[in-house]
Amino acid sequence: MASEEDELPVPGDTPEGRDALRLLLTRYSVSARHLREPGPTDDELWAVAMAALRAPDHEKRIPFRFVVARGEGLERLAALFVDYGRRHGKLGPDLDREREKAMQAPVVIAVIARIDPDDEVVPAHEQWTAVGGAIANATNALHFMGFGAKMVAGARARDPAIVAAHCSEGEMLVGWIATGTMDGPPKPRGEIDPAAILTRL
Ligand SMILES: Cc1cc2nc3c(=O)[nH]c(=O)nc-3n(C[C@H](O)[C@H](O)[C@H](O)COP(=O)(O)O)c2cc1C
Repeated sequence: MASEEDELPVPGDTPEGRDALRLLLTRYSVSARHLREPGPTDDELWAVAMAALRAPDHEKRIPFRFVVARGEGLERLAALFVDYGRRHGKLGPDLDREREKAMQAPVVIAVIARIDPDDEVVPAHEQWTAVGGAIANATNALHFMGFGAKMVAGARARDPAIVAAHCSEGEMLVGWIATGTMDGPPKPRGEIDPAAILTRL
């Protein structure tokens, strides 16, 4: 079956390079409600971590770490979300939805940033850039392995009790990458014209 990916013309010296670039240019986010088992295995998650560690990172500060939830870990995440819901006055079906939110994808990867504001060589904005690069590389790696993934954050990622359950002193919870097998083909996306971000000095 000829897919859009097979046909997308891209530059590159080698077929392998062009294939990799085609995959990169067709990454998209897939929300947790469209993700099913199987999720990535431990070996696949290892590759995700290796990809994150290839992100540009000034002085290799590695200002991030990942915490994987699957199975019982997702139950713990669900308990945190239900507790969050209760504290925000939710009841019955609304509380069930809090639980569902945590349990939809088979694997959830919490992204934790550890930014040193006093770093005299690598300012905070450069450390944050490395965190973003790690998230991009991680989601790209998942896409390359055939998984759907989406980074989400929102109010729960800023909730002190949820943050405390994930982070040590000096760390921040950025959010979660939900990942798993897509339940069907992705919705077609409109392309953004690169001219919008590509100019000359
Ligand atoms: C740090 C971070 C947090 C995000 N939080 C949310 C979120 O809470 N909810 C959401 O719908 N999208 C969130 N997004 C955006 C999605 O991950 C995704 O990039 C967006 O839906 C665009 O889809 P695309 O990646 O296919 O272009 C976040 C992205 C990042 C990098």
